[in-house]
Amino acid sequence: MAISVMLSKLSSSYGAFLAASSSSLGSRISFSSSYKVESHPNSSLLLSHFSSWSKTCKAYFSKKALETPKIVDLDWDSLGFGLVETDFMYFMRSSSDGTFSKGELLPFGPIQLNPSSAVLNYGQGLFEGLKAYRKEDGSILLFRPEENALRMISGAERICMPAPTVEQFLDAVKQTVLANKRWIPPAGKGSLYIRPLLVGSGPVLSLVPASEYIFLIYVAPVGNYFKEGLAPINLIVEEGYHRATPGGTGGIKTIGNYASVLKAQKIAKEKGYSDVLYLDSVHKKYLEEASSCNVFVVKGNVISTPAAKGTILPGITRKSIIDVATSKGYQVEERLVSVEELLEADEVFCTGTAVVVSPVGSITYLGKRVEYGNKGVGVVSQELYSSLTSLQMGLVPDTMGWTMQLQ
Ligand SMILES: Cc1ncc(COP(=O)(O)O)c(C=O)c1O
Repeated sequence: MAISVMLSKLSSSYGAFLAASSSSLGSRISFSSSYKVESHPNSSLLLSHFSSWSKTCKAYFSKKALETPKIVDLDWDSLGFGLVETDFMYFMRSSSDGTFSKGELLPFGPIQLNPSSAVLNYGQGLFEGLKAYRKEDGSILLFRPEENALRMISGAERICMPAPTVEQFLDAVKQTVLANKRWIPPAGKGSLYIRPLLVGSGPVLSLVPASEYIFLIYVAPVGNYFKEGLAPINLIVEEGYHRATPGGTGGIKTIGNYASVLKAQKIAKEKGYSDVLYLDSVHKKYLEEASSCNVFVVKGNVISTPAAKGTILPGITRKSIIDVATSKGYQVEERLVSVEELLEADEVFCTGTAVVVSPVGSITYLGKRVEYGNKGVGVVSQELYSSLTSLQMGLVPDTMGWTMQLQ
């Protein structure tokens, strides 16, 4: 059956979508490849536009899908944590009453923003980060995506934005992942990083919340966040810059929190450190977190981490590690953790979606360098890393009920 004939039968809206895909994606999506049409998550809906042709077309596309490579040809072994552009992004606008509807998949590419949009002028924006893993059997796992949806809702409330419901968030994540399925690394080679964004797109001049918002999701295949991989990272305790203050926005994933740490991070990287550890801005002696991950301190059987009371991000990996460690018999404490305790710890590790569980090899504070784990990965860090990643990648039965299987 000639694809050109079938395409001529498409509804005008789908036709426009295909045309946009074609021009924006160039050779990556070509209509000579019927697999890519079938790989569109709405393909069954879209194909129903053929009315009486529908069943025949579906059968044709399904057959072709089986014949076509389902993973892009990338050098998976050298994946880092950088942007690799994929096929589709999800896009949904709020209406004037603050509700979101009519989300759709679009070809990945630039979006239009009013120069006076609230996000560009006043930083009214949030992001999230989660991952999808490909299992050996080809199925796909998401890790606790509803937690990201809930964190986005609570962050949105803090900076006066409406947010998609948990159901809308999950539906959008699933659609985006499935549409970009061929970009999910093979099992054991990495993951598909999912980046939901919620931004004030409506125009403002005075400092007020926007009247309109955009919820968007894009994805990228990723490997290790730190170039060290699972090898221990070297951190420096920041003495001058602070990431957050009590009453501020340190506890939410607002975009401004990240611009404000770039300078400290840049200085640290120039000196050869992987990242910065921040102290509390009041006493300047209690640990907070790193620029993009939480921190844990191990002493004997006790694992301590700073309590999440508004100045640190309540990480979903942090929460998961607390539960995994507790289930393994460790005594886990969420409390004030002083910098002295950090320096006297047996092991230190960081947690986050991007960094997973990242062992710390050394910490430098006031010019003094303390080393941990004899330059190797600490026993506790290794144990928790293995337990968490086994769950995330579906290598062990999910006794916690944390993974969501797609397909
Ligand atoms: C500042 C900060 N802390 C901690 C985390 C870890 O959070 P999660 O485990 O939910 O990824 C992140 C990462 O998103 C972060 O940006």
